[in-house]
Amino acid sequence: MSASGAEPTAGGERGKLPQMSSAEYKPVPYRPERVGHEDSIARGRAFFDSMDGRRSVRFFSDDPVPREVIELAIKTASTAPSGAHRQPWTFVVISDPEVKKQIRIAAEDEERKSYEGGRMPADWIEALAPLGTDWRKSYLETVPYIVVQFEQITGFDDEGAPQKNYYVRESNGIASGLFIAALHQMGLSTLTHTPSPMGFLSKILGRPKNERPFVLYPIGYATADATVPDIARKPLERVSVWDPKPSKD
Ligand SMILES: Cc1cc2nc3c(=O)[nH]c(=O)nc-3n(C[C@H](O)[C@H](O)[C@H](O)COP(=O)(O)O)c2cc1C
Repeated sequence: MSASGAEPTAGGERGKLPQMSSAEYKPVPYRPERVGHEDSIARGRAFFDSMDGRRSVRFFSDDPVPREVIELAIKTASTAPSGAHRQPWTFVVISDPEVKKQIRIAAEDEERKSYEGGRMPADWIEALAPLGTDWRKSYLETVPYIVVQFEQITGFDDEGAPQKNYYVRESNGIASGLFIAALHQMGLSTLTHTPSPMGFLSKILGRPKNERPFVLYPIGYATADATVPDIARKPLERVSVWDPKPSKD
């Protein structure tokens, strides 16, 4: 296969170029801002300090959130790099109290089976113990917005023909991180929630077969008396290796 991803023409006629995809390569100039070292570090520190203050929240107020905040978070998520630039995600926004209620009922039903119905293995329950979570998800009705990120297993081209997507999970993971970071920058709180299995979300939200639920985000402001688990983040030395040597075998 060529670098462009196009297969050579069937029959292999000599002297003919491989069949190219219809989309042309049309580069445009790109001149990112060149930042001095001191400024780089100062900006990096400020961003790290801000992101280090982010926590997953499970206690939300019902204070209203501007619609534009949600739009900006989705637009930021959509700046994520993605395999073959397919942007294989759909962010579904829910503000209707009736739909939030349906989601809460279905999520709690699944979570009850996981936590108390023996569906979750003992080691998982043990891993979750320090987080103090259980099957109750009342915040799903309290928050002004729920957003569900769906991954598009396959997509559609501009003419509506089915199209293959690439690195769908990885692309959605990166978009998710940017979405969460954007919300935090705007002073909003959220939770990366995965009430497994999440098939009920496709049904309640009427999503097509090519989409699969990826993460559910309750979004709002933390209550004044919100608490979070007392957990620490691994230090740099435990999450990075610099200039490693090749392995001997
Ligand atoms: C993929 C993923 C799924 C998660 N699912 C849940 C969930 O279903 N319920 C929940 O309460 N927290 C969930 N979390 C949140 C984690 O428990 C939380 O991120 C972790 O404890 C670290 O806390 P922090 O986000 O406050 O730094 C999930 C996080 C990730 C990344």
